[in-house]
Amino acid sequence: MSHKIQTLSGYFHEYQKSVTNPEAFWARIAESFHWKKQWDKTLEWNFEEPDVKWFVNGKLNITENIFERHLYTKGDTPAIIWEPNGPNEANRIVTYRELYEMTNQFCNALEAQGIQKGDRVIIYMPMVPEAAVAMLACARIGAIHSVVFAGFSSSSLADRINDCEAKMVLTSDGNFRGAKQIPVKAVVDEAVENTPSIEKVIVLKRTGEEVVMKEGRDVWWHDAIQGQSSEYTAKEMDSEDLLFILYTSGSTGKPKGVVHTTGGYMVYSEYSFSNVFQYSQGDVYWCTADIGWITGHSYIVYGPLLAGATTLMFEGVPTFPHAGRFWEIVDKYKVNQFYTAPTAIRALQVYGLEPIAPYSLDSLKVIGSVGEPINEEAWHWYHDHIGKGNCPLVDTWWQTETGGIMISALAGITPNKPAHASLPLPGIQPVIVDAEGNELKGNNVEGNLCIKFPWPSMLRTTYGDHEKCKNVYFSAYKNMYFTGDGAKRDHDGYLRILGRVDDVINVSGHRMGTAEVENAINEHPKVVESAVVGYPHDVKGQGIYAYVICDMEGRTEESLKQEIKDTVRKIIGPIAKPDMVQIVPGLPKTRSGKIMRRILRKVASKDISNLGDTSTLLNPEVVDQIVEGAGLK
Ligand code: WT7
Repeated sequence: MSHKIQTLSGYFHEYQKSVTNPEAFWARIAESFHWKKQWDKTLEWNFEEPDVKWFVNGKLNITENIFERHLYTKGDTPAIIWEPNGPNEANRIVTYRELYEMTNQFCNALEAQGIQKGDRVIIYMPMVPEAAVAMLACARIGAIHSVVFAGFSSSSLADRINDCEAKMVLTSDGNFRGAKQIPVKAVVDEAVENTPSIEKVIVLKRTGEEVVMKEGRDVWWHDAIQGQSSEYTAKEMDSEDLLFILYTSGSTGKPKGVVHTTGGYMVYSEYSFSNVFQYSQGDVYWCTADIGWITGHSYIVYGPLLAGATTLMFEGVPTFPHAGRFWEIVDKYKVNQFYTAPTAIRALQVYGLEPIAPYSLDSLKVIGSVGEPINEEAWHWYHDHIGKGNCPLVDTWWQTETGGIMISALAGITPNKPAHASLPLPGIQPVIVDAEGNELKGNNVEGNLCIKFPWPSMLRTTYGDHEKCKNVYFSAYKNMYFTGDGAKRDHDGYLRILGRVDDVINVSGHRMGTAEVENAINEHPKVVESAVVGYPHDVKGQGIYAYVICDMEGRTEESLKQEIKDTVRKIIGPIAKPDMVQIVPGLPKTRSGKIMRRILRKVASKDISNLGDTSTLLNPEVVDQIVEGAGLK
């Protein structure tokens, strides 16, 4: 792409331009895409409401920028290389033309099943090419997709369906995941019992396991596409029409539907992909995320496909059938860019170097990290043993809400420094602020991370609740988007992300609101009250530690702890299951009744050296009891 930055001085030059005249900067990038009608105005914004519009009145379809734009030159180029969970099953290589035809056929199927522009469609699917087809077909007909990670429970799925009043669920009979087989259709069946808006469920045959198909509601994928044409003219969308909703946890008890719109998301996902990974035509790029997360949206599907790249999609897990699976796949397809999460690196680090030894990994040019701060030990292991010391390691900071990578080295162009996300992409204006919202300029400063100017792929609202969007992101500091993260600008001017400063914990790179876990725990009939905090965990980054006040009658401590863990697993899903449950006689509270989480965090991280002044607490004696109960005394 013409807007790929190629030198360090080019980076500074572009950055300067993007700050001096952001609108001209973005207009130039947007011009390289295909618009059915050019926009009237590049940007309209205020952060008070908030109200942000990019490429105002521009008309387009994002999938025309994937297909029609690339078909002449890349029809026979692999768009998706799919590697199955089981290494003995055949892989699939889907070219741009094939993906185009599959998408068109599914567009026709969706319409035949009653989906129209503006309808919401839930995608609850395994990592197979059809999942990408599902997303692209929604985008092509103008339906709004909301992908739900297929590890979420039926009640989490039902909550999301109900929040956006979706008409349809796309799913599979079952999913393969390592040695396990997960009966996803059964989860969907349970969910849709409580979702009045759902009219149809389309089911892809994946595992071949037996499922119940409800007459009039459930349709097999292969039947739905049967006889459908593989031609379809993309619907014309407004630049600000909704492209997708993606639910994410926050400090409030209920996940929010982050809304992304068409034009801005398209421009930014491709721009950031091309620049951060320095993708060159013909490279094979692999991101190990799941499409259920924003990383899968922006950097498995949209960013790479908009760039005409070959994107590898892996259905399985890093340790199945052996701990060298990732590296085996890198060699098998000669992967050039590899993008994963620190938690995966730490999990593999445990197996030592032996699983890596059989593989050369010499195709790798760039390695990347996302999801949480990467600790220095994992950084060096990844850099030295996977990158063999000669691949730039891009530590990419961003969020579901930002839609794309915001702060990161550009591979091989800007310097990378262990555990530092480093520099903002041109077009991104991060600031570090103190508690009063004053911008802390210069180096060697630490505070809360905000963004003071809009960027094309920023969230526009939280679905159905604009007030919430305003309160959560735009009220803490005037005229700034607040990220919820702490950050430091070091003596060299590089940014280091310090982690969340709100009641959100980051478990294996997945965001979990403590309030959401507490709500789930409180569903257990024996639970009186609970408080959840994060604590340092060797593999997950942060683990979930739950302090629970219970009515113990008829239970042993062990049985109750297990029941509490199972309750959370059932209500939210396995990713939210507490690692530690401590039954406590009370929770430390201030005189106004607020739980003193600072104390609970210290105990959970086994650091009781400085618990601070507890004498002003309503119930100071409980602190000792908790310390003792944690086995620290
Ligand atoms: C939170 C966003 C972005 C896709 C995956 C997670 C943390 C993300 C980094 C990084 C330090 C990071 C932040 C952020 N985070 N990347 N490179 N260094 N922290 O998306 O679920 O929306 O979570 O993940 O705390 O706020 P998400």
